[in-house]
Amino acid sequence: MIKISPELLLHEAAAAAENSYSPYSHYKVGAALMIAGGAIVRGTNVENVSYGLSMCAERSAFMAAVSAGHRDFVALAIVAERNDASEEYEFPYPCGACRQVMAEFCKPDFRIYVARYAQLNVFEEFTLGSLLPNPFGEKQA
Ligand code: THU
Repeated sequence: MIKISPELLLHEAAAAAENSYSPYSHYKVGAALMIAGGAIVRGTNVENVSYGLSMCAERSAFMAAVSAGHRDFVALAIVAERNDASEEYEFPYPCGACRQVMAEFCKPDFRIYVARYAQLNVFEEFTLGSLLPNPFGEKQA
């Protein structure tokens, strides 16, 4: 079993956030997906003037990784930069659509780390099973 470094993965996610294309929300999100074997695939949010076409960072990472031939994933880090000066502390929890995409490829013990860009050393850790307890799956379809 590969050892996961949340700190390393969160730094990779922060680097991915620097490539964010978010001229409409100004909310920069980065994701770093660790593959079994240790490779890391990055993703960022990519927005569109037709807003509904925008893509989340997490799904960008999964699409890139699957496109590269990967199928076996161990952990994901998500980092976002707030677009206002508020002191209120909010972690960038993944949206429901991204959780369902994770459930397509990952088991309930898949690890998810979230942190703010400004404070990478303060993070929360979840399992996919805790964030999406009853995913739609093959037993339904
Ligand atoms: N966004 C993500 O990248 N991940 C999420 O889980 C939620 C939202 C992006 C989409 C859009 O570019 C911006 O954040 C504001 O919704």
